[in-house]
Amino acid sequence: MDILSKANALESAGKKVIHFEVGESDFDTAEPIVTAGINALKEGKTKYTAAEGLPALRNQISQYYAHIGLDISESRIFVTSGASSGLMLLSALLFNRGDEVFLPDPGYPCNDAFLAQVGAKSRKIPLNAREQFRLSTNALESLWSGCSKGILLASPSNPLGAVLDEVLLQKIAKFVGRKNGFFILDEIYQGLVHENESYSSGLAVSDDVFVINSFSKFFGMTGWRLGWVVIPSSATELFSRLAQNLIISPNAPAQYAALAAFSEEAMIIHRERAKLFSQRAKKLSCGLKELGFEIPLMPEGGFYLYVDISEFGMSSDEFCLRLLDDFHIAVTPGIDFGANQGSSYVRFSYTTSEVNIDEGLSRLAKAIPFLR
Ligand SMILES: Cc1ncc(COP(=O)(O)O)c(C=O)c1O
Repeated sequence: MDILSKANALESAGKKVIHFEVGESDFDTAEPIVTAGINALKEGKTKYTAAEGLPALRNQISQYYAHIGLDISESRIFVTSGASSGLMLLSALLFNRGDEVFLPDPGYPCNDAFLAQVGAKSRKIPLNAREQFRLSTNALESLWSGCSKGILLASPSNPLGAVLDEVLLQKIAKFVGRKNGFFILDEIYQGLVHENESYSSGLAVSDDVFVINSFSKFFGMTGWRLGWVVIPSSATELFSRLAQNLIISPNAPAQYAALAAFSEEAMIIHRERAKLFSQRAKKLSCGLKELGFEIPLMPEGGFYLYVDISEFGMSSDEFCLRLLDDFHIAVTPGIDFGANQGSSYVRFSYTTSEVNIDEGLSRLAKAIPFLR
């Protein structure tokens, strides 16, 4: 956010900044969704809805899963105010003061805060660049203690763009199940998986996995603040009560708009954009490699690349500030995603056009001799 506001200040001063720091799609929300949202407002659909979300929307989400071969009852689906609210509610549902929850490092930084609000502690599993930042169940098994209550992962992940395969998900689900713990899988980047990746939803693995999802990324609706969770049947009643008390209801017009997000017309747009993200991933990763950057894990999904900058002999903060101040390229310091080697990495987002990616790469080529 600091980098973004500094980049915005440079732009206000008339400089052209290449934005590789932004964690949201550069495309506007698809037109059918916008029209449905406007209609909802005009038709006065501005009152509270059920805390669980509109029945029609829960049904659409269930059908969305049916299209990928998953039979998920609407009763297990709860609409939330973005994945963030899902993460907040699930933390409140599952964890108590002193509980220990495993998170990968590097990982999505706000997860620490969701756990902290209920007094739970995040316990980091350091991922190793030499092992392409792959999570191993051995690490989880050896760190698990009497206070451990669960694990929270994302696939595809932020900032790595890593996809967790079905075998690994199964192993984790089994282990955590044996320990009577909880497995939360954040699938906010579902739909943004690049070709040939062996993506599996946690819902294909076990009915006990708590799955987070959102309209923010694949559906391009970040500012509408809408997402959903899928939870085991045994937890639905308690989750309803929590949502009623803490949220009352998710944003009503956004829910009516989201009904149109699943229309064939809108899905064509989302899929087309997902393809563009894959092309950009290829362009940016190849370009960075040609410039000599090390990328331990080539992007598998989402819209991020985690890039080694250790050869420049400065911290990721310093590297990002130099790049922004002197070359007007904005990237995110790895230290934001964890202390484990974070200072030696930066995150590039490919949420910008191919023209901008080319311009960013040519600026980087000029910057490298000055940064070394
Ligand atoms: C892994 C991950 N989870 C959750 C979120 C929050 O998303 P939302 O906009 O749905 O609240 C983000 C946002 O970037 C994210 O990267």
